[in-house]
Amino acid sequence: MEAEAARGAAGIYPVDILEDDPEGFREAALAYYATLGEGTPASSVFSLPTGEQVKLDASSVCFCTVHRDEPQHKILVLVNPQDTKTVVAVYAKGCWWSTEDVLRTSDPAREGLMKVQSFGERIVLFILNVVIFGRLERNLDDDDMFFLPHSLKEQAKILWKNGAAVGFYTTKAKGGLCGDGTGAGYVLPVFDTVFVRRKCRRQGLGLAMLRDFCETFQGHEALGISCPISPAMYQVCRKFLVAHPEERGRLWEVEPPGAWGQRVSIWLKIQLQHASLLD
Ligand SMILES: CC(C)(COP(=O)(O)OP(=O)(O)OC[C@H]1O[C@@H](n2cnc3c(N)ncnc32)[C@H](O)[C@@H]1OP(=O)(O)O)[C@@H](O)C(=O)NCCC(=O)NCCS
Repeated sequence: MEAEAARGAAGIYPVDILEDDPEGFREAALAYYATLGEGTPASSVFSLPTGEQVKLDASSVCFCTVHRDEPQHKILVLVNPQDTKTVVAVYAKGCWWSTEDVLRTSDPAREGLMKVQSFGERIVLFILNVVIFGRLERNLDDDDMFFLPHSLKEQAKILWKNGAAVGFYTTKAKGGLCGDGTGAGYVLPVFDTVFVRRKCRRQGLGLAMLRDFCETFQGHEALGISCPISPAMYQVCRKFLVAHPEERGRLWEVEPPGAWGQRVSIWLKIQLQHASLLD
């Protein structure tokens, strides 16, 4: 297949070659899916990095909605037959790509925190959020938090490092609708979801994303972080606020829309926790 040849020859990945065309993407996936329904040759398999082979037929693939507010934006995914909730590959440009390849780039310009703009980048965000965090790198046994698929309107940045997407953060804009049906808008910019892949944790990346958020909204006298804040993220906030005393009065843990009755000072909470530990 054409795309497979290109992939093999030049280390090209979907995010580098996808057109910004969710509709065309969905139509191509639907057309391919229809051919699966007609019965596929026995040789049609996808090899997992573990060496295991997954047969490509209608029972092993399904459509996923990339954005929670845009049901038309769908991608076709292949699931692990032993665990049908785990996505192992995505169909794009005429072939299947492992989820790790979907997260890769061969574009050296993709490095550091970059705004999500194209549909290809939205797919990367979806895979990081729903597949990697939601399924593979979350503690499924305890009640660890997870995030819903993001809204198309949500501002997001992906963190690129050494040719792969390793984290993201998203923000709610001041004035943006809370989506609770009341028509209320956020009264301050809010750091809403954040994730760093396990293999890249404790290298200062969470801290870098929080710093980037605070710098992006420099002119605002109050900034929110969505409640509930995870224990690890509290530690990130603590380290940040110890190093940046000027930000202590600005950061609030907020429930939407973030009005006075819906916010608690993060620095105050950290101080209280510290005091209770000393007691
Ligand atoms: C929270 C999260 C984004 C932090 O990312 P990270 O890149 O590991 O954070 P950093 O490396 O920047 O951490 C900065 C400091 O915070 C503290 N810290 C971070 N994670 C910690 C943890 N699990 N336990 C204790 N302290 C922690 C440390 O002081 C660390 O500095 P150090 O490594 O020099 O000691 C990451 O753990 C994650 O993705 N968790 C799952 C999703 C999540 O909880 N999101 C937050 C929702 S509110």
